[in-house]
Amino acid sequence: MKRIAVIPGDGIGVEVTAEAVKVLRALIDRRGLPLEIVTFDWGAERFLREGVSLPDGALEMLRREFQAILLGAFGDPRVPSNRHAADILLGIRFGLDLYVNQRPVKLYDARLCPLKGRNERDVNFVILRENTEGLYVGVGGNFKRGTSEEVALQEDVNTRRGVERILVYAFEYAQNHGGKRLCMSDKSNALPHAHGLWLRTFEEMRHRYPDVESRHLYIDTLTTEMVRDPSQFDVIVTCNLFGDILSDLGAQLVGGLGLAPSANLHPGRTSMFEPVHGSAPNLAGKNLANPLAAILTVGMMLEHLGYVEAAGDIERSAAEAIRAGQTTRDLGGRLGTREVGDRVCSHL
Ligand code: NAD
Ligand code: IPM
Ligand code: MN
Repeated sequence: MKRIAVIPGDGIGVEVTAEAVKVLRALIDRRGLPLEIVTFDWGAERFLREGVSLPDGALEMLRREFQAILLGAFGDPRVPSNRHAADILLGIRFGLDLYVNQRPVKLYDARLCPLKGRNERDVNFVILRENTEGLYVGVGGNFKRGTSEEVALQEDVNTRRGVERILVYAFEYAQNHGGKRLCMSDKSNALPHAHGLWLRTFEEMRHRYPDVESRHLYIDTLTTEMVRDPSQFDVIVTCNLFGDILSDLGAQLVGGLGLAPSANLHPGRTSMFEPVHGSAPNLAGKNLANPLAAILTVGMMLEHLGYVEAAGDIERSAAEAIRAGQTTRDLGGRLGTREVGDRVCSHL
């Protein structure tokens, strides 16, 4: 029996995770998958009530007792510091050393692409975001805080080992999957220390992967190229912050955040799966949020756990709902969150 920890979190995280779990349970029944689901109430509510964000010993428990973690989203207007979200979300990414954040950008229906004349073949690539370093490590501080002379420092931490392992993952991913074009993106022209390391490591590694067609683009150029001609990309690898921004841009090329799934991986270890979007307080509690990103995320999780056919069932069923217009308002449909979950289940 494999065990899955489910942490719905805040806002629409709770609503979309309920639909994702509904689809997962339907698949467990249909295919007899040996999976057990355990739910945890970590999030803003618990933090406000008990002051607990990520409970003591939680990471060790997740690592030891679970094969995968399914997350909703974190963020609540009542916690302006975002403290609990950082503790739980970044706590899991960093604490479990999930150094790959894999974010596919895949167009399921040409009508959802905002670019003129683009179809499903043109927009199908994956963003590999470094997930344990960079500007996210929280090193820094404020000096003379609150005065007119305030100094704010936020350090960009890049290590040889950290850069090398995400680039190795990217080269191997490109080699082992259909598309063999890899683009590494940084800002080494303006950040010669931090991103110089990325470029040097990349240049050294290229000759070890002669089958992979690799190139380098500065991040500003990459954003224009992603919009001008997304068909030129198969695999994009970049640092933590750029990967965050790029994946929201990518999501918009295929219909928006309501459709963007992701996986946080450390090959061979307990990994975590979550939609790219946040807790969307503007939609929370209204049965308006699109659950397809969370549902597609379950597909990524099942594929990672080795249930490739079950993962295929999810992707096919979600695509069928999209093509039939059985969607929430963000995709032009008229259904609610729960109803979209039901339709996907019926397509299984
Ligand atoms: P957001 O992703 O929550 O929302 C951005 C926009 O996309 C909003 O207009 C929202 O309505 C829309 N949207 C998002 N998900 C949608 C869905 N499933 N269906 C339909 N529309 C959807 O980002 P934000 O507004 O910048 O942040 C809100 C909160 O979420 C903040 O506290 C932020 O820190 C947090 N956040 C958390 C995560 C996470 O837990 N992984 C990710 C991003 C943001
Ligand atoms: C994401 C989110 C997070 C990030 C926030 C909530 C810290 O935007 O998962 O994309 O920046 O990684
Ligand atoms: Mn983001």
